[in-house]
Amino acid sequence: MTIVISGTKLAASRKETLKDAIIKAKEKYNRVPKLAVILVGNDTGSLSYVKGKEKAALEVGIEINTYHYMDDVTEKELEDKIISLNNDSSVDGILVQLPLPKHIKQDKIIDLVAPSKDVDGFHPYNVASLYLKHEGILPCTPKGVIAILDSKNIPIEGKRAVVVGRSNIVGMPLAKMLLDRNATVTICHSKTKNLAEITKEADILIAALGKPKFIKDYMIKEGATVIDVGVNRDLETNKLCGDVDFDNVSPHTSYITKVPGGVGPMTICCLLENTYIAYLNHFKK
Ligand code: GUN
Repeated sequence: MTIVISGTKLAASRKETLKDAIIKAKEKYNRVPKLAVILVGNDTGSLSYVKGKEKAALEVGIEINTYHYMDDVTEKELEDKIISLNNDSSVDGILVQLPLPKHIKQDKIIDLVAPSKDVDGFHPYNVASLYLKHEGILPCTPKGVIAILDSKNIPIEGKRAVVVGRSNIVGMPLAKMLLDRNATVTICHSKTKNLAEITKEADILIAALGKPKFIKDYMIKEGATVIDVGVNRDLETNKLCGDVDFDNVSPHTSYITKVPGGVGPMTICCLLENTYIAYLNHFKK
C-alpha cells in the first residue's frame, strides 16, 4: 500500500511547535526573531515564494521585512543593504531570493551575507560546515527532505539512496546528508548513462532535476520511497507539477510525496526553523 506523505501537514505541526517556542523565547529575550528578505525584480515564481515565506513567518511569530528592488538595482546597492543588515543586531536571518538578474554576481552577493545570518545555508562557510560535519546552518530543502523521511521513520542507514540532480541548493547537500545518515548514495545527472538502471536500485529515490513528470514507473524499484523536489509547470495543463509522474509512479511505491503539498511547505518550515536557530545563536554570543 502506498502512503502519500503530506509535507503540508508535517510543516503545520512543526510550525505549531516553533510558534510555542518563539512565544517562550520572547519572554526570555524580549524580542521575536527577525528575518530580512531581499527580492529583486518581478519574477512571478520569486514573488510567489516570497509571499509564502512572509505568510508562514507571520504565522509562527517571526518578524519579516522584505526589501524589494527593481530589476535595474546595482550590485553596490545590494551590497550596501547586506552590509547594513549584517551590522544590524536586531536582524537574525538574511535571505536573498534567487535567481538575481544577470548583471548581478550572485556568488558575490551570497558570500557577503554573514554566515551566522545565512538562513538559506548557501554561504561557502555553511556549505563547508556541512561537508566537514561542523556545526553550521543546513540548506532548507534538503533539511526538509530528511525531516519528511524521519517523520515516517523511513530507514536511511544501509539503504540505497539515489539523488537525481546535482545542484548546490538541493542535490549535492542532500546527497551529503543522506551519506551522513549512512545511506549508500548515488548522484545522477543529465549526463548519466542508463539512468533507469540506477534509479531502479533505489530504496530512496530523490527527484531534483527540474523536468516535469520525468520519473516514470519503469524507473522505480517496487516498494521504494520517492521524494519529489521538482517544482514545474505541466506543459499540457499549465498546472504545478513535480519531477515525478505521480499517477504513473505512486502505485509502485511504499511512500511518496506530491507536488504541490510535499517538499515545498517543508522548505519554508525549515527556513523558519533556521531563523529561530540563528536567533538563539545570536543570544549565545
Ligand atoms: N530560489 C529558489 N529556491 C530558493 C531557495 O530555497 N532560497 C532562495 N533564497 N532562493 C530560491
